[in-house]
Amino acid sequence: MSSIFKKFIFTGFAPNLTNQDVKTACGLLFKPWSWKKGDSAEKIETWLKNYFSTKYAFAFDSGRTALFYALKSLNIKPDDEVLVQAYTCMVVSNAVVWTGAKPIYVDIDSDFNMDANDLQKKITNKAKVLIIQHTFGKPANLEKLLNIAKENNLKIIEDCAHSLGGKFNNKLLGTFGDIGIFSFGSDKIISCVRGGGLITNDDKTASKIKEYQTRLPHSRLLKIKQHLCHYPIFFIGKKLYSIGVGKWILAIAKKLNLTNKIIYKQEKIGKQVLFYPSLLPNALAKILLNQTEKISEFNNHRQQIAKLYNDKINNPKITKPDWTNESVWLRYTILVENPHKLRRLAKNQNIILGDWYSCPIAPADINITKSGYKAGDCPKAEQLSAMSINLPTDKNITNTDAERIINLVNQY
Ligand SMILES: Cc1ncc(COP(=O)(O)O)c(C=O)c1O
Repeated sequence: MSSIFKKFIFTGFAPNLTNQDVKTACGLLFKPWSWKKGDSAEKIETWLKNYFSTKYAFAFDSGRTALFYALKSLNIKPDDEVLVQAYTCMVVSNAVVWTGAKPIYVDIDSDFNMDANDLQKKITNKAKVLIIQHTFGKPANLEKLLNIAKENNLKIIEDCAHSLGGKFNNKLLGTFGDIGIFSFGSDKIISCVRGGGLITNDDKTASKIKEYQTRLPHSRLLKIKQHLCHYPIFFIGKKLYSIGVGKWILAIAKKLNLTNKIIYKQEKIGKQVLFYPSLLPNALAKILLNQTEKISEFNNHRQQIAKLYNDKINNPKITKPDWTNESVWLRYTILVENPHKLRRLAKNQNIILGDWYSCPIAPADINITKSGYKAGDCPKAEQLSAMSINLPTDKNITNTDAERIINLVNQY
């Protein structure tokens, strides 16, 4: 079949968007008075508390803001060191750098999570906090990492931006450390385009976080409008993508600033933007409440699609991740010799594969010196990021779509 008749398969592109979200967003676009204030952000906090059975939960404009305040609440001072894995995003590095602390990059293992042996080597007497990232939804090696943290008196933040609903030894990720942080960005487990959450059981930490949160401004109206516009624009853009129009709708919307950016130009050079950090707007929290009802459905679907990849990809040139039922498989990441070539071949067949992460601190167009990462710091992260390609697992991927991807990968 000619590729113009083949359904487009996306890896990012608002994968969690539902008709209900579009309806809610369009309704909200006509009610700007309800964009900032209301009870929805508080309802998200209650949902988080119940979901994780934790004492405290806080909502923010993003995961990066949640991480920034998590670090601040742990009394990070200039000159302190924060251990964080490479094979991460610039916004994570920024959250550390903006506290005045120094990020110390720890290498990864073949599961894209922190390598406990390298962690041991990188701890100095200046180390204060360990950030444990559960990459692509897969639990890190918590047994070892938690032990090392305990031996060295390190506070622990779990970065669950990719892993809401994932587990380790049947216990929810985010509940092992002092603080857990989450992202509700457009490509994450559940989404409101831009949003974040934080949980903790510690009274002192919670009271500090509350203080920071109380001082935060509301999101700007223009920003909320962009996030609400994301819904109808992506809804129409994706529907019309296969006839070539959708691509233009999305590109023009971006150019005209009708939609938001995931990471701003200033952030790519290590600078804060003017309009963030902020509170989670009522309007976005309202959409997120729709999404919280779908979390099990979304994650079960991701696991089922990932299982198909796991069972049916049999190309000896491809390295698959080790299987675990406890991952929520936000993206199923494989390693290939030339990911750009595979991505190109896929595109010819209307399959857009993902590029998380194509360099040790992503995205590729950042000023890496501002992240504090130096070439050679984490050789394995450098090696694996040059070979990574993500297959989609989201609710839009049918078994037939997955089979198309499997065939493509097996024939590569
Ligand atoms: C590993 C990781 N942690 C934290 C974040 C921050 O999340 P947010 O985009 O909601 O700020 C991201 C963002 O993509 C991420 O990839």
